[in-house]
Amino acid sequence: MRSMVRVLLVCAVLPAFAHGADADNLAGKAQAVLKTHCSRCHTPDGKARGGFDFVLDRTKLVARAKIVAGQPDESEIYQRVRDDAMPPKGAQPRVGPDDRALLKQWIEAGAPTASTSAHAFVSEDAAARLILDDLQALEPAERRYARYFTLLNLSNAAVEADTLQATRHALAKLLNSLSWHPRIARPVAVDAEQTVYRIDLRAYKWNARTWERLAPVYPYRIAVEPSVSKALTAATGAELPYVRADWFIATASRPPLYHDFLQLPESDKAIERQVGVDVADDLRENNVARAGFNGSGVSKNNRVIERHDANYGAYWRTYDFSENTDRQNIFEHPLGPTPGQNGFLHAGGEIIFHLPNGLQAYLLVDADGRRLDKASSEIVSDPKRPDRQVENGISCMTCHVRGLLPKADQVRAHVAKNSSAFSKEDVQKIRALYPPDAKLRSLMKDDTDRFVQALTKAGVPADEPEPVSAVTQRFEGTLDLVSAAAELGLTAEEFSLSLRKSPALARSLGPLLVKGGTAQRSAFQGVFDDAATTLRPKQSEKTDTVAQPFTGHTETVLSIAFAPDGGKAVSGSRDKTVRLWNVADGKELRCLEGHSDAVTCVAFTPEGNLLSGGRDRTVRLWDSATGKELGKFTGHTDVVRCVVCSPDGKRVLTGSLDGTLRLWDIQTFKEVYRLPRQDGGVYCVAFAPDGKRFATGGHDAGIRLWDAENGKEMKRLKGHTREVYTLVFSRDSARLLSGGNDRTARLWDVAEAKELQCFDAHDSAVLAAVFAGEDDLVSGASHYQGTDPSLHVWSGASGKERRAFRAGDGEQVSCLAFTHDGKLALSAGAEHRLRLWRLDK
Ligand code: HEC
Ligand code: HEC
Repeated sequence: MRSMVRVLLVCAVLPAFAHGADADNLAGKAQAVLKTHCSRCHTPDGKARGGFDFVLDRTKLVARAKIVAGQPDESEIYQRVRDDAMPPKGAQPRVGPDDRALLKQWIEAGAPTASTSAHAFVSEDAAARLILDDLQALEPAERRYARYFTLLNLSNAAVEADTLQATRHALAKLLNSLSWHPRIARPVAVDAEQTVYRIDLRAYKWNARTWERLAPVYPYRIAVEPSVSKALTAATGAELPYVRADWFIATASRPPLYHDFLQLPESDKAIERQVGVDVADDLRENNVARAGFNGSGVSKNNRVIERHDANYGAYWRTYDFSENTDRQNIFEHPLGPTPGQNGFLHAGGEIIFHLPNGLQAYLLVDADGRRLDKASSEIVSDPKRPDRQVENGISCMTCHVRGLLPKADQVRAHVAKNSSAFSKEDVQKIRALYPPDAKLRSLMKDDTDRFVQALTKAGVPADEPEPVSAVTQRFEGTLDLVSAAAELGLTAEEFSLSLRKSPALARSLGPLLVKGGTAQRSAFQGVFDDAATTLRPKQSEKTDTVAQPFTGHTETVLSIAFAPDGGKAVSGSRDKTVRLWNVADGKELRCLEGHSDAVTCVAFTPEGNLLSGGRDRTVRLWDSATGKELGKFTGHTDVVRCVVCSPDGKRVLTGSLDGTLRLWDIQTFKEVYRLPRQDGGVYCVAFAPDGKRFATGGHDAGIRLWDAENGKEMKRLKGHTREVYTLVFSRDSARLLSGGNDRTARLWDVAEAKELQCFDAHDSAVLAAVFAGEDDLVSGASHYQGTDPSLHVWSGASGKERRAFRAGDGEQVSCLAFTHDGKLALSAGAEHRLRLWRLDK
């Protein structure tokens, strides 16, 4: 493969991917093309030719690399169409040029799916900030009752709209199924895309302690900006103010959380008291309706179901058996469960009762009425669960989708036919307890209506697949690359890139990088914490880790530079001071005073001392250890715009608006030579690492290469059309990177004086650039006039945006610097404070 210059451009432009209505429109059209031309051979209900049956499933297409978002020519789907190889030769109709172009455009736009695509990737930080904004819009006294659920791991993985919708329904259903509140309360979407929901704890009769049960078991924590997470905790009083909706649905729908959130007591007697039922009394007074039968839909043996009136509707229970013989045969012993020779002896039971809001709650008990988490598989089984065991909550919801399940009684008819086998008294009692079918059915219908009405109020359609179990099953299924990445708050590309750099994790998650590869939920969950810390950018190095880091300047900051090792930084400001910072924690190490006007440029010497130039036309050298001014370089007749030290530490170069560039001796502070005037001033200067030459740029848009030995002009690099603001040499001195007010960054071959590449994706002036990482990585940056500063990292190889950084507060950036490896950036401007950006991952 040809080695390409991989370019990371940090600039203030919008990603090229389509958004909103455009994406929807495009997605719809692309889908139509695939439907017309491909679906009859490549869908599950079509013919699955070549073993390929998901041409209409965008998530799979991307996960299995049939589509490489943004790169049509790398995408098999498009390749086949481009080469007119699909549909196969001879098949009609062919894909016309318009449709072909449309497919290409769709993939270039990131292959959006209708309705989900409208939604761009939302980072964990952005989600946390969204939640914080929502909280701050609430009355202060309300905030401690607010908690949140996010669906972002799903929307960021661009799942089908149906999946998102099922998750919303499942959330609404489960929350209200865990509630003793008389009213149904729907969670409230706080964003237009409906991916983050707020609830009020009180709406479900929960309190802060109820919610706290989630914290010790929540496995999917992702660190966000410490200042934001602190603010979230301060507002809500909760250490974990938001959780993933799908995890909550799959976890709180079963014990122990199901029991905890519903505050279910540990026995049937206790719950009966709670809902106002006295079973023994109802039986004595013939105040129940029963059915007994063989051939249960869930129980392996014969079974009795029984209904009582209760405070909030009905209380239904079953009597379940582990065998069909002797006292476990309900046809021989239809009476019970009161002790005595006649009654049946049951082995367990299942209970459904209405909650005050009309939804159903479930309880599973043993023969003695003690609460169970899972039923003995000898008694009942759930074919839909992986272990076939009936688990309280989730299993019950899966079958009791629309409420109660009717079953015709067989006992009444059996006893009528064989009445001589029973005492007269017993026959009467049996006829009283086991009413005619119509009666039981009408009671059951009322109870079911109550449930369905409540569901409808919760916004859950009763005619769709049961959402809680659908979400749970999906959650428990395997993960592909896209979904695993999204669960870590990363795009598939970011995830792949950083996973390749982490051999330890690649052992467990590596299979995801293979075409069509998957990971088991349990395996993924096992390494999640590790992955979240290893694969995600480090939070601890952000500025916000310490109270008010990088603060001190009292006026606009005009210049920044990093020390050669990146551990310290220096800044100059309109407040006339030069400040030295510790990068890791943003602590101000020193404040240097001496300039009589704004400080417009700063630099480190190779030894770590500081240089500063200013509007006072002087350049000063400072001892960074003592803060002492070591000397002054005087001579410029206008503002000093740039200063650097030669690699050997002996010379200082300065450029000024007076149009001259001057070389100084660092020992004597004497001018060694001066270069001829450049029109409009010199704005930037860079020394080649080999010390042989330096480059200057300025107002006249030209870049000049100079021989450092004698100050002779060697070459001119022409290309920029406006002021040049930044210059940097590659480590081997062979290439030069420049940026300027024409909104471009350019890469040059120094020996040939030739432009190699022009990166014109910037929206405004390029203020800084750097060759990052290995020599073939490059970064550029720009400020964003008047609006939110945003840095975007681009990969030149794919032309795609790797990451975007946004301050979110409308700061105007006037200066920017990168560390030599391009991993960190510092920006500053009118805000007085420096902002640290972490660009690697
Ligand atoms: C008339 C049936 C038919 C139609 C229509 C059709 N294909 Fe195919 N496709 C096949 C067959 C047969 C194969 C397996 C042989 C092969 O790979 O060439 C195949 C294989 C493929 C493969 C390779 C699958 C793999 O996993 O190796 C891709 C990709 C593909 N088709 C894309 C498309 C696209 C895109 C369209 C619509 C523009 C399309 N096909 C329309 C029959 C069809
Ligand atoms: C595999 C499906 C399935 C599962 C799982 C299931 N049920 Fe049922 N349930 C039924 C069917 C079917 C009936 C109707 C009677 C019968 O066929 O046994 C029923 C009946 C009942 C009844 C009597 C009222 C009625 O609707 O007929 C109660 C009470 C009950 N189930 C409670 C539960 C509880 C509690 C759970 C969870 C612990 C549960 N069920 C799990 C299928 C299921």
